[in-house]
Amino acid sequence: MKITVVGQGYVGLVTAAGAADWGHDVVGIERSEERLVALLGGRVPFHEPALAELVETHLDSGRLQFTGGGQDAVASSALTFVAVGTVDRNHSWETRTMRACLTEIVPHIPDDGALVVRSTCPPEFIGQLVEFVDQLRIEAGRGPIAVMLNPEFTKEGTAVKDFLEPDRVVLGVASDPTGQGVALLREFYAQVDAPILVLSAMDAILSKLGANLFLATKISFANELAALCDLYGSQIERVIEGMAHDPRIGGSFLRAGIGFGGSCLPHQVTMTVRDAVEHGHETPLLAAVDEINLRQKTQFVERISALTDGLDGRRVALLGLTFKPHTDDLRAAPALDIARMLIDSGATVVAYDPMETARRNAKAQVRGLIVVSTALEAIAGADVIALATEWPEFITLPWARMARVVRQRLVVDGRNALDPDALVEAGFVYSSFGRGLRVPGGAAQPVAPQIGARPVGVPVRAELAVSDL
Ligand code: UGA
Repeated sequence: MKITVVGQGYVGLVTAAGAADWGHDVVGIERSEERLVALLGGRVPFHEPALAELVETHLDSGRLQFTGGGQDAVASSALTFVAVGTVDRNHSWETRTMRACLTEIVPHIPDDGALVVRSTCPPEFIGQLVEFVDQLRIEAGRGPIAVMLNPEFTKEGTAVKDFLEPDRVVLGVASDPTGQGVALLREFYAQVDAPILVLSAMDAILSKLGANLFLATKISFANELAALCDLYGSQIERVIEGMAHDPRIGGSFLRAGIGFGGSCLPHQVTMTVRDAVEHGHETPLLAAVDEINLRQKTQFVERISALTDGLDGRRVALLGLTFKPHTDDLRAAPALDIARMLIDSGATVVAYDPMETARRNAKAQVRGLIVVSTALEAIAGADVIALATEWPEFITLPWARMARVVRQRLVVDGRNALDPDALVEAGFVYSSFGRGLRVPGGAAQPVAPQIGARPVGVPVRAELAVSDL
C-alpha cells in the first residue's frame, strides 16, 4: 500500500519505518528542517532501540522516503497517518498543530483514501474532528473522505517491537460511511497477529487514555503499598509476589519508586483531572494518582536529606536523568524535578546518564546541575548516591569499589532496582521504597514514622580517593 505519515517524532517515525518493514511504500513528512536533514542522512534524531537500523534498511530498500513537502505523496496514498504533537510546553493539550497539519493535507487526500489520526488527541477534539475535516474538503471542492483514529500503544524503549507485534490494534471510526477506512486499515495491518478492534472514535480515544490512566493508577497504587511496607517493615517485592499469582491482579507495572514520567502518563493524568473539573465533574481516584506521583519525588528528596543530616553543602551523585532507561527522553523525567529540589535545598548535584544527549539537555534545563560523563565521576566524593533511572550499567556497578571513593556510604534507590544485599555487603546504607532501611550488618528496619532516619553507628566514611582506584 502507499502510505504517508505526517510528523516524524517518536510515534510517526516508528509507524513509518514499521510500515515499510511490512512492505508498504511509505513517505514520511517532517516539517522541522533539522530533523528532516538528519532523517535524509539516515540518522534518527532521538534514541529508540532498533529504529535506526529499520530506517536505514528501508531507506536502502527504497520503501521509506522522507520529505518536507509531501502533498503529492498524500495525493497518491491510500492512508495518510497524522502523528503530530498534541501537548504544549506546559504539558497541556494543544490542537493548533493538528489543525494546521490537517488544513494542509486533507484537501489532497484522494476520495478513496482515508485520514488516520494516530496522535493522542483530547476527547473534545475528537468531537470536532469530522466537522473540521468535512469543512476543509468542502472548501477544496472535494468529496468526503473516511476519517479514522488509530491510537498507538507503543512504549519508548521497545516501540519498534510493540509496533510490529502489537497486543491489539484499535481502530476508531470517526466517519466511514462506505467502510473503506476500516477496510484499508485492515489491509495495512494484514500481517499483524492480534485482535483488531473496531470502535467508535470516542471509544477508541478513551481506550487509549484509559489504558494509560490505568497504568498510572497501578504505579501509584504500588507506591502507596510501598509506603505501607515501609511503615510495617515489610518488603514490597515479596508483597507483590504474594498478590501477583492471582490472575485478576498480575504483577506487571507495580514497581514502586519515584513515580511515572514521560510524555504520556503524567500529562494525561493531570489533563484528565483538569478537564473533568472544567466540566464540573470529579475524578478523585485520578487526582490521588497524580498527587501520589508528585509525593514520590518529594519523599525521595526528604529521604536523602534525612540520611545526610540535611542537604545544604552535600554532594549528591544523581544516577540517571531520562524518564526511564533505553531512551534519551527527558520529558517529565522525575530526575529533573528531583535535581531542582536538591539544588534548591543547597546540595551540589553531580549527575550522570548514559545518554549524552540527555546529559546535555538536562544541563540546559536544570540551573546549577553538574553533569559528568561517567558514573564513577558522579560517585567520587559523593555524600549520597541517588538512583533515578534504572539503566543496566547502574545495576552492575562494582559497588565494593564505589564504596572506596564516596565520602559517605549511602544509596537511595529511587527505582528499587539495586540489590540491597550487594549494597550492604559493600558497606552501604541502603534506602528505597518499600524495602525498609538496610544497614551493613543489620536486618531491614521499618523506615516510618521517621522516614529515612539516619541509623546510628554506621561506618559510612570512605578512606580512598578516585586516584586510588
Ligand atoms: C506509556 C504506555 O506504557 C504505553 O502503552 C503508551 O503507548 C505510551 O505511554 C503512549 O501513550 O504513547 P511510555 O511513556 O513509553 O509508555 O513509558 P512507560 O513504560 O509507561 O513508563 C512510564 C513511567 O512509569 C516511567 O517513568 C517508568 O519508570 C514508570 N514506571 C513504570 C514505574 O514507576 N513503575 C512501573 O512499574 C512501571
